[in-house]
Amino acid sequence: MPKYRRIAIQLIRSLALLAIFSGTAAHGAERRDVIIDTDPGADDVVALLLALASPEALNVLAITTVAGNVRIDKTSRNARLAREWAGREEVPVYAGAGQPLVRTPIYAENIHGAEGLPGVAVYEPKHGLAKGNAVQYLIDTLGKAAPHSVTVAMLGPQTNLALALIQAPEITRGIKEVVVMGGAHFNGGNITPVAEFNLFADPDAAKVVLASGVKLTYVPLDVTHKMLTSDQRIQKIKGLNNRAGERVADILNEYVKADMVHYGLPGGPVHDASVIAWLLKPDLFSGRQINLAIDNREGVTMGQTVADWYDTLGRPKNVYWVESGDAQGFFDLLTERLARLK
Ligand code: BDR
Ligand code: CA
Repeated sequence: MPKYRRIAIQLIRSLALLAIFSGTAAHGAERRDVIIDTDPGADDVVALLLALASPEALNVLAITTVAGNVRIDKTSRNARLAREWAGREEVPVYAGAGQPLVRTPIYAENIHGAEGLPGVAVYEPKHGLAKGNAVQYLIDTLGKAAPHSVTVAMLGPQTNLALALIQAPEITRGIKEVVVMGGAHFNGGNITPVAEFNLFADPDAAKVVLASGVKLTYVPLDVTHKMLTSDQRIQKIKGLNNRAGERVADILNEYVKADMVHYGLPGGPVHDASVIAWLLKPDLFSGRQINLAIDNREGVTMGQTVADWYDTLGRPKNVYWVESGDAQGFFDLLTERLARLK
């Protein structure tokens, strides 16, 4: 099928989805323009499917990929797989940074598998990457955007946005807010005793984004470790009997095993999907404005997010820190949205 015809068909499908669900945008909020920056990753793929199944609330302008859970070629392929499984091939995927700003790359193959997607067979998706680099895409898009109009959902190391901000600091003007999956305070870390993976993988990038002064929300392990899978929750997703539900159930069944054993938890977190749930239904969560500092020094506290929850230092509050969430509400939302897909 010629490329233009294919894109036209995809566009019509998206518009149809949008028409079906228009008027049902979560909490009456207007539709957001969103760029999803991601390192798929099991939970990233779940997050992408949740976002792409919610066109009435989220206008996903693009998916930008970064090295993190696995190498950049694999995260970029997995992002395209998620896009294919959502039937949303009109959404461009731009590949970005293959390594952190300064430090040596680390990966999380022990959790996400060698291909970055546990529990399912991976393959080369039908459609390729968009031409151009993710960092340039961020600079161009945010630079041209109406003031404070674009939300950036950060589901991996923050390298791409940091590089864009270093090259073109004025792009903060186009940003409505940045929502980060990352950090840990009350919960402790998951890659060191105090650091969460995304912050540890590129603490320098996280510091650049924090210092830029953009409106920031952090969705840390404090909340994601309270929103756990259960057999029943995964079964309900599997029971949707569609491809998306089947894939998500297979991925989650495999993905949660390591965390359940390591932390002695009754289920596993689906970290990155919480960022999308926050955008769709913020009422499911609670938190507060706090002062956040990030440690990027080599040593035992590298990547630690020092979250001044009790305002002990009286410093300016620079992030909204999400601390708890309605786990059942989250899984109900995820299941309901996945049911919309093929
Ligand atoms: C974060 O690290 C990655 O492994 C996950 O995809 C998530 O973004 C959780 O610490
Ligand atoms: Ca991730």
